[in-house]
Amino acid sequence: MSQDLAAAKRESAYVLDLISKKTLTPEERQRVIKDSVQYWANHVNEGFLQYRKSVSTDYTAVEWSDEGACFKDINGKEFIDMLGGFGIYVTGHRHPKVLKAVLDQLNRQGIHSQELIDPLRTYLAHLVALITPGDLQFAFLTNSGTESIEGCLKMAVATTGRHKFIGCLGGFHGKSMGSLGGTSKAIFREPFLPLLNWTHVPFGDVDALKMIMASCDFSGDRVAAVVIEPIQGEGGINVAPPGYLAAARELCDKYGAMLVFDEIQCGMGRTGKMFYCEYDGVVPDLMALGKGFGGGVMPIGATVGTPKTWEKYIENPFLHTTTFGGNPVCCAAAIATINVLLDEDLPAQAAKKGDYLLKNINDLAKKYPKVLKLCRGKGLMLGMEFTNDELGYEVAKSLFARQILISGTYINARVLRIEPPLVIPQAQLDRFLEMLEESLQETYRAHKF
Ligand SMILES: Cc1ncc(COP(=O)(O)O)c(C=O)c1O
Repeated sequence: MSQDLAAAKRESAYVLDLISKKTLTPEERQRVIKDSVQYWANHVNEGFLQYRKSVSTDYTAVEWSDEGACFKDINGKEFIDMLGGFGIYVTGHRHPKVLKAVLDQLNRQGIHSQELIDPLRTYLAHLVALITPGDLQFAFLTNSGTESIEGCLKMAVATTGRHKFIGCLGGFHGKSMGSLGGTSKAIFREPFLPLLNWTHVPFGDVDALKMIMASCDFSGDRVAAVVIEPIQGEGGINVAPPGYLAAARELCDKYGAMLVFDEIQCGMGRTGKMFYCEYDGVVPDLMALGKGFGGGVMPIGATVGTPKTWEKYIENPFLHTTTFGGNPVCCAAAIATINVLLDEDLPAQAAKKGDYLLKNINDLAKKYPKVLKLCRGKGLMLGMEFTNDELGYEVAKSLFARQILISGTYINARVLRIEPPLVIPQAQLDRFLEMLEESLQETYRAHKF
């Protein structure tokens, strides 16, 4: 496409006008849908569009506004968000307190100078130290989950002087070149090999972890870090069996490796505690945060570490930097998120709502076993496992037609994720259960089960 600055000026003015409008005419709405599909194909990635941007295959559902546990498409059709942006919306869509903090901060200062002391970064780092367990004390603020993992990997290398990492099969830690090594699926990583020196072991298998740690130590390929998602999200909502995290802690201590917990998806109250590792009473050396950390309003993550993991970094603070990470607007969102989580006791709400869903969905699994195998997980991080990928996709599609958004894991619909905003009201949980049963019935009928 050739350069055309006049067209860019016209189009940017048109879009600014759209953004500022409270309501759109039917013609404007149609144009947005048409433009979005065309520009996605021409300027974003046609392959993704063909794969599916959601279970809405007719592309008419272009998202436009959101509030609470719901979002609306551009035509005003409301959907219950049972996917929750893969765990982003812990405090709900545009929680008023989070929104206010961001707008207040924006009205005073946007991005920080990069040179002076910016206070919101320091308040947020202090709050993170207050809400994380054990001696986790320092925070490096990032722009995304993958960047939080990169920070953990670098701190582990700086602390141990080693370069070997152990991850878990089914693990997902992001897609930048460092974190991608820890992500275990071939289709994501194979085109980019060789990556850092990673070995993956079966998730939840203490003996496998013992064996690899002993073997690495024996062969001199000493381990810098063991990186674990306490509940695997992309891998299919697999909860670490009791005792697994503690065993990993013991092995890391024995062999001088850092223990890294990726709480990007399962942290910030989603599982019923502020962080999942609290269930097992295990404190990692490093923890990665992201997704819900910015309350679903702003993108922000954190690499969190103990004093030991920060020693080398304190000696040389230029070992790791970022321009936008920890900017005051994103910090304002994260500070408000922490306040809302505590003020509204959202972790306790997540525990209660999760128990309710888990029981009711497992009752449905007993009623419709040829389609739905079971539901597992903790708090509002649940996964429904179907008898196969195709049936899972059919149920997701059928739910979408009933104005409920849900999605699979690892580009596969055999397990559908349930990660709604923690503020979701009871009536919407019941509506979801009702629509789920209708969708299961529909799938039964379609296959003459
Ligand atoms: C557990 C986990 N770690 C890391 C990431 C990567 O985060 P981001 O997509 O913000 O880079 C994700 C994203 O899905 C995740 O679920």
